[in-house]
Amino acid sequence: MITSPSRGIRLLCSAAAQSNETLDILNTGAKIPLLGFGTYAKDNPQDYPPSLIYEAIKQGFRHFDCAEAYQTEGAVGRGIKKALQEGIVRRDDLFITSKLWNHHHRRQDVLPTLKHSLQQLQLDYVDAYLIHWPVTDNPGPGLDPPYQETWQAMEALLSTGVTAAIGVSNMSIKKLTEVLSYAEVTPAINQIEMHPMWRNSDLLAFNRVHGIHTSAWAPLGGQIVRGASVVPSAEMPWQMQANLQALNFTLSDEDMAAVGGLKEQTRQHDCVEPMDPMFRPFFQPQGPWKSRAELWDDPVTYAHLPEGQL
Ligand SMILES: NC(=O)c1ccc[n+]([C@@H]2O[C@H](COP(=O)([O-])OP(=O)(O)OC[C@H]3O[C@@H](n4cnc5c(N)ncnc54)[C@H](OP(=O)(O)O)[C@@H]3O)[C@@H](O)[C@H]2O)c1
Repeated sequence: MITSPSRGIRLLCSAAAQSNETLDILNTGAKIPLLGFGTYAKDNPQDYPPSLIYEAIKQGFRHFDCAEAYQTEGAVGRGIKKALQEGIVRRDDLFITSKLWNHHHRRQDVLPTLKHSLQQLQLDYVDAYLIHWPVTDNPGPGLDPPYQETWQAMEALLSTGVTAAIGVSNMSIKKLTEVLSYAEVTPAINQIEMHPMWRNSDLLAFNRVHGIHTSAWAPLGGQIVRGASVVPSAEMPWQMQANLQALNFTLSDEDMAAVGGLKEQTRQHDCVEPMDPMFRPFFQPQGPWKSRAELWDDPVTYAHLPEGQL
């Protein structure tokens, strides 16, 4: 099944289609499976089981969303290796994303950080490498190093073969517009929070206009129909099965209208709190971002935060 936002969703019933996949085409020409698998561990990343990834591949997942900060790339690598060794998949059947964490934004850190992820993943290349957040650990007033420096280092990766595509994550329209003003390579992906409670429609449309694929984290039903890839995590085989079924049903126009009409529109996840004490907070009194509103560039609301705390 291949979707293109402009062409709508269409079925690919060929026997050659990879197990139960839908695909979108990135601006690099590469295919990205719309149903992915998140590898963030809620607790104890050191105990993340490689068998989860192996099982997910066996069940038909081909797109894995990884990140340096999740501290699970070693386990993910072991799961992938087993599946490759057993011939369940070939490397080029898989779409593997990794992400650069906030304290590695300096030009000279970008390639070594990706190489470390590749070592953990036991891979020669990733299919996409994203800047995880428009945040560094250094005090402002400006972003230090500037995003432009990091983006140029990302562009330089493309000639080294360590990643097939580069992209961004958690970027607002305002911040992406600035990146596009100097980018020699347009980001292939913007990975953002997007689900019925936080439709993020303006950003989805902006990405689309600029040929940037939207990948949805913390996804719920309906995002694939909107042209985005989704990366739900799951720890139980029945959850993987249920998530794979997302490709086998379509929401009617009525269903989509009902989901698309949900009034409450608030971010549900406050990932900006450091997930590990080794990471510095996203907000600092001197900037670059003093508040969530400055990070997101929108009149942000959170489901779980009173207005005064934004
Ligand atoms: N770019 C970013 O900044 C960013 C931020 C956040 C996340 N992400 C990516 O997005 C992925 C997903 O995010 P997330 O793990 O926070 O949220 P999520 O995928 O929305 O939620 C995952 C949880 O939902 C439950 N679940 C999964 N499948 C289910 C099913 N079929 N039926 C019922 N429950 C089900 C499981 O919880 P239980 O085990 O408790 O049942 C699972 O741990 C992450 O792994 C990561 O790769 C990226």
